[in-house]
Amino acid sequence: MDYPIDAVRRRFPALHHADGKGQLPVLFDGPGGSQVPQSVLDAMVGYLGRYNSNFGGFADAGVRTGRLVSDARQAAADWLGCAADEVFFGLNATSLMFNVSRAVAQTWRAGDNIVLSSLDHFSHVSSWQRAAEERGVAVRMLPLNADGSDLDYSALPDLLDGNTRLLAFAAASNVSGTVADTARLVAAARSVGAWVSVDAVHAAVHGLPDAAAWDCDFLFASAYKLGGPHLGICFGKRAHLHALRPYKVAPASEAVPNRWEQGTQSFEAQAGFIAMIDYWAALAEDGAGDRRSRLRRSYAQVRRYEQGISRAVLDGFRQRPFVRLYGLDSEHGRTPTFAFNIVRPNGGIVCPQQIAAWFGERNVAVGSGNFYAWDVVSHLGVAETGLLRIGCMHYTTHDEIACFFALLDEWVQTHL
Ligand SMILES: Cc1ncc(COP(=O)(O)O)c(C=O)c1O
Repeated sequence: MDYPIDAVRRRFPALHHADGKGQLPVLFDGPGGSQVPQSVLDAMVGYLGRYNSNFGGFADAGVRTGRLVSDARQAAADWLGCAADEVFFGLNATSLMFNVSRAVAQTWRAGDNIVLSSLDHFSHVSSWQRAAEERGVAVRMLPLNADGSDLDYSALPDLLDGNTRLLAFAAASNVSGTVADTARLVAAARSVGAWVSVDAVHAAVHGLPDAAAWDCDFLFASAYKLGGPHLGICFGKRAHLHALRPYKVAPASEAVPNRWEQGTQSFEAQAGFIAMIDYWAALAEDGAGDRRSRLRRSYAQVRRYEQGISRAVLDGFRQRPFVRLYGLDSEHGRTPTFAFNIVRPNGGIVCPQQIAAWFGERNVAVGSGNFYAWDVVSHLGVAETGLLRIGCMHYTTHDEIACFFALLDEWVQTHL
């Protein structure tokens, strides 16, 4: 069956909303935040308008709110591949990382070390780094390979030892789109008895996470990256959620996973999150099976479509010698997220912000900067300038890719 791109796009009001000049948006800023389907918007407004209540109330809205929280945990469990009592919510992935890392670090001692990944967005670096700093624990970085397109896995044996307490890595880079070899990383960590923390914020937009199969200890995701509201989601192994001591308000519930949620949660965001998971589960259009198996089929369908989009982007880049692509020149082993710069005939890099601003005037969202992937941009030698990023989504069209290249050619003809 053909991928129903038109039906997909009809679900997203923002894709049909022109700017003040009458220009429809062309959005390549998905890795920064995606657009939202109408069903998610309806669920959020529906909750706030009718059932807004604190947790634990006995009147109708309170009872519904309690049910909503259970449903949201079940939706998260179906999505992440774990049990409903192993997931909890927070403001965003970053705040959950800071929350969890401080609690985990209480089990570390001076002389221990942790290994972090150079491919990562720095929320998954700084959070663990600060926790290690406070406990006198050494931080080792898993380096990138020579061209910065992937991790240098050959460095693992020298970095991990009997004192390694944690290996933390992103399942996919939010800048180059490179997908990490999760199985290899987890096996390396397990061989020395280290825990594993996975940042799945970018990876979960393009591939179905699987906390159980990955055998990680913690996993972080963020709903606003794939059609949901601003809401962070964390998986933690049940034993850890019981044994560790979370940073919590003393009278708040000690039940797992409630004890890991700090303060009043955004129930409207959880309502939107359930609708987001149901949106993804229905993408496969064949309603058979439980929600997890429908999600699996939806993601497989999206993956095939996005590989076609990646091929089109990479073909376009290859035809343009003024483009310097950072990352894998293949639609395999990557998400449809691309980091690049425009190179002048003298070899200098054009200021990425200048190009992004020019595209922005045409209501085309192209990203520029370091995207908090500090080690990646340093390794690529573009820490000062930054780079350009186009991130495609399951609602990106081939026409939009053609539009991007037509505008890029126009920019080059008029500016280079
Ligand atoms: C790979 C990755 N990790 C972590 C984050 C931080 O997520 P949040 O904005 O939910 O804190 C981002 C956000 O861009 C990201 O792309």
